[in-house]
Amino acid sequence: MDQYVIKGGCPLQGEVVISGAKNAALGILAAAIMTDETVIIDNLPDVNDINVLLQAIEEIGAIVERVDRHTVKINGSQITGMSIDYEFIKKIRASYYLLGALLGKYRKAQVALPGGCNIGSRPIDQHIKGFRALGAQVKIEQGMIDTKAEKLVGSHIYMDVVSVGATINVMMAASLAEGKTIIENAAKEPHIVDVANFLNSMGANIKGAGTDVIRIKGVPSLHGTEYSIIPDQIEAGTFMVAAAATKGDVLIKNVIPKHLEAISAKLVEIGAKVVEYDDAVRVIGAKERLGSTHVKTLPYPGFPTDMQPQIATLLALSEGTSIVTESIFENRFKYVAELNRMGASITVEGNSAVIDGVEGFTGASVSAPDLRAGAALVVAGLVAEGYTIVDQIQYIERGYEAFEDKMNGLGAKMKKVPVDDEKELQKFMLQVIG
Ligand code: EPZ
Repeated sequence: MDQYVIKGGCPLQGEVVISGAKNAALGILAAAIMTDETVIIDNLPDVNDINVLLQAIEEIGAIVERVDRHTVKINGSQITGMSIDYEFIKKIRASYYLLGALLGKYRKAQVALPGGCNIGSRPIDQHIKGFRALGAQVKIEQGMIDTKAEKLVGSHIYMDVVSVGATINVMMAASLAEGKTIIENAAKEPHIVDVANFLNSMGANIKGAGTDVIRIKGVPSLHGTEYSIIPDQIEAGTFMVAAAATKGDVLIKNVIPKHLEAISAKLVEIGAKVVEYDDAVRVIGAKERLGSTHVKTLPYPGFPTDMQPQIATLLALSEGTSIVTESIFENRFKYVAELNRMGASITVEGNSAVIDGVEGFTGASVSAPDLRAGAALVVAGLVAEGYTIVDQIQYIERGYEAFEDKMNGLGAKMKKVPVDDEKELQKFMLQVIG
């Protein structure tokens, strides 16, 4: 097990290149097996979640060739297994995208039931509702989701909840159903659009992705394609917040500024400077303390829930009192106790965090409770006086490629060291004294 050790106090300066979007790539890799032809996908982020899903795809018989760190060739013609076992689902929930892909292509699939996780119970009732609406039988027994269908027929599906996963899963199955499917109250995230564009590049007929009504005309089969994943909105947002928190000046390259509008608007509202270019944004922190504000997480284009811990960390340093309300997940404030140990003053009341801004943080040993909270604790360590040690960083490495390298490329002083390796820790601390 590794941990990050961070010497705080260095404003981030310079340029960073954003990797491909993890949450788009997970849906796209699952959809890639829906054809018997070869699919080439590039701009894949080299993160653990992607590597685990590729293992799961190989496990059922697909041919997976890593062309390079960010490019993969997949051929689904040799798939024999339709069952994804628990070992993959417990590593990444998104293995359940193989349900929609396998059901669409083979009319049957079996995936272990995903459990909850650190941010909430994460039910999948809307996924099941969509599959059943298309004519599939879905049974849940012995911890497995077992689905099969004589045939899949297009249907008019109204999602009770705006769900990224359910929208992607149903969109995949409906692509190869007979007839028309309408998904109402669909999620509109950039990664939904990317998966729809990918499926259309394979010959699917999907219109309206990115709006709350997606219309799909089923096709008999899909063909091979070459596709490049969109940049990661949340990785970009994390670096934007880090630049503002450290009072730095960072050019964040390979982004789609439109996807970052809710984040940019909040940063500007509290006094940071954001300059937009075609495929980059520059964030310049303010010399004086930033202001306070209220943030409520909402489905896209609202403020992203995956940026909630990061913006709360920034507001914990602002002048005045801010309120952050988490409307998507029921338990996404686990990082607050860790942040308070670094000197923040935050109280959680129901699904809101009341944040009294403080002048600064002091370094401490903290634990990453989940992926985005872990990234937020790293941002806090970049600002804190002295040293911060963040452990459980396997959560962070699920979704951030070369996180410490990218941060150090911007002038941070951060190193990944094995847990309990005092020698490595001391060596780092001696190196960065100053
Ligand atoms: C995706 O999770 C992302 N994961 C999450 O990112 C992200 O936080 C979330 O969307 C919201 O944007 C991936 O894309 C792999 P949902 P997902 O279905 O699809 C409820 C990260 O940090 N719900 O949109 O699981 C659910 O409980 C991760 O990269 C149902 O009630 O999220 C939640 O309250 C964390 N029934 C809300 O909907 C269902 O069948 C939104 O969940 C499905 C969801």
